[in-house]
Amino acid sequence: MQQKPGIWPNMRHIVKKTITFQLLLVFFVWGHPFTSGLLAREQDPCLSCHQYPGLVRLEKNGGLKVLHVDEQKYLASSHGHLACRACHLAVDKIPHVGTNKTDCQSQCHQSDKDQSLLANTPRKGFHTKQQSVIVSLEDRTSCKVCHQIYPHSKEPFVRSFLNMHTGYLACEVCHLKRSKFNIVSYDWVNTEAVVFEGKPFGSVYDPRRKSTRKPEASLSRISPFVMHKGKPKALMNTWDTQGALKVSSARTRLDEDEKKLEIRHYHRDVVKMERTTACEECHARNGLLDFRALGFSQDRAEALMTMPIGNIIKKYDAFYLPKLGGM
Ligand code: HEC
Ligand code: HEC
Ligand code: HEC
Ligand code: HEC
Ligand code: HEC
Repeated sequence: MQQKPGIWPNMRHIVKKTITFQLLLVFFVWGHPFTSGLLAREQDPCLSCHQYPGLVRLEKNGGLKVLHVDEQKYLASSHGHLACRACHLAVDKIPHVGTNKTDCQSQCHQSDKDQSLLANTPRKGFHTKQQSVIVSLEDRTSCKVCHQIYPHSKEPFVRSFLNMHTGYLACEVCHLKRSKFNIVSYDWVNTEAVVFEGKPFGSVYDPRRKSTRKPEASLSRISPFVMHKGKPKALMNTWDTQGALKVSSARTRLDEDEKKLEIRHYHRDVVKMERTTACEECHARNGLLDFRALGFSQDRAEALMTMPIGNIIKKYDAFYLPKLGGM
């Protein structure tokens, strides 16, 4: 954010390179995938992205593919002594999509008995008990009338990270034509109408202590605030909800042009955020959100400001993981 032209593009290039290199190094020093205890000492690099609950992709059939793997639950599982790539041989570069093929026999399960066992064991849902996701979140906004909780499906690799944020932020934080409003602050809005599968995640804001904690049943999300009748008010679009319900009802028959006009109407305050700069809009110093003012602890705020994942996403050109030793 707020970087000047001229010298900056070069600097950013160098910073990006360094971060990618560091990540690459992590992969290089990563030993044999069957070394037991590896994970206990040091986080598997795959988890640097897959540890996040709410990391979700929408499938073509409308279903959700949950990509989260909880580290503690994974370590406690019967396969927790294995590095991720022991089975995920097809994941050979970052970013990756469509690399769902798994191999149970690269070193294990090779006997005839095991092979027939494998043939009768479904692979789908292998990590289900280690995953968390929001299955329902009712905030009465117009956006939710037409869009799902996890609305991003287009751009591979960023879509799942963006989806994860809809459990942290109102759509308006990222999609508002800010120039049309006088935003006085970004603050928390609470919702009880949330259903988690797995462990609850995200944040709950405690206004008395002015601090955030892990949620149990309710969830707080960040929204822009504007002044309304002398008081700060969350700017989440609920005023269009009735109208949106009406136009999207099966009984309302609209031709293509009428549909376009309606959608344009409901998007009159909406902009599409630029994905190449999206992450550093917030995960940077002097970003859009003041994490300390929002009640995040010093450490957490620091971690949110210095997170390297955004840089990896922005860079986009793939880097290949080294081949696994002994395989
Ligand atoms: C013992 C083998 C094995 C290990 C070790 C393993 N996985 Fe998996 N993983 C699977 C199988 C089987 C599937 C399901 C594939 C399918 O649907 O065909 C899967 C699926 C996935 C998926 C896709 C989402 C899903 O749930 O279907 C992700 C993401 C994933 N694994 C990440 C990881 C990460 C990260 C680790 C290390 C912490 C890991 N896996 C370790 C076997 C393994
Ligand atoms: C830099 C972040 C990052 C790292 C590191 C990472 N992943 Fe992923 N992975 C993702 C994202 C994002 C997706 C979802 C892509 C999409 O939207 O299709 C994904 C998808 C997957 C899938 C599902 C593939 C599919 O299309 O069905 C598997 C399996 C998987 N990752 C395993 C792994 C394993 C194993 C490792 C370690 C070798 C790993 N990932 C490291 C971010 C990462
Ligand atoms: C009446 C239904 C409807 C409502 C209400 C609605 N949307 Fe949409 N939205 C759509 C449809 C359909 C599309 C895809 C067609 C298109 O690209 O115009 C879309 C596309 C989008 C896009 C992508 C635009 C682009 O340029 O690719 C964004 C961002 C978006 N909506 C955000 C929102 C937000 C935020 C709200 C709430 C303030 C909202 N929408 C309310 C129906 C709706
Ligand atoms: C963390 C910021 C962020 C939040 C929160 C967010 N979006 Fe987005 N959204 C983006 C970015 C960045 C893109 C552009 C991605 C791309 O280039 O395809 C996008 C694209 C979209 C698109 C079109 C592309 C696609 O993937 O289908 C739709 C529709 C959309 N957003 C709807 C919503 C709705 C509805 C909400 C609230 C439930 C929401 N978004 C919350 C950042 C966000
Ligand atoms: C509009 C601000 C905003 C944008 C844009 C944004 N984030 Fe975030 N992100 C947040 C906030 C706020 C949290 C923490 C929410 C919480 O814990 O309640 C967060 C949390 C995360 C986390 C989890 C960190 C953790 O330790 O739990 C990851 C990973 C992440 N963001 C990655 C990304 C990536 C990748 C992008 C770009 C595709 C992105 N973010 C864009 C605001 C943003």
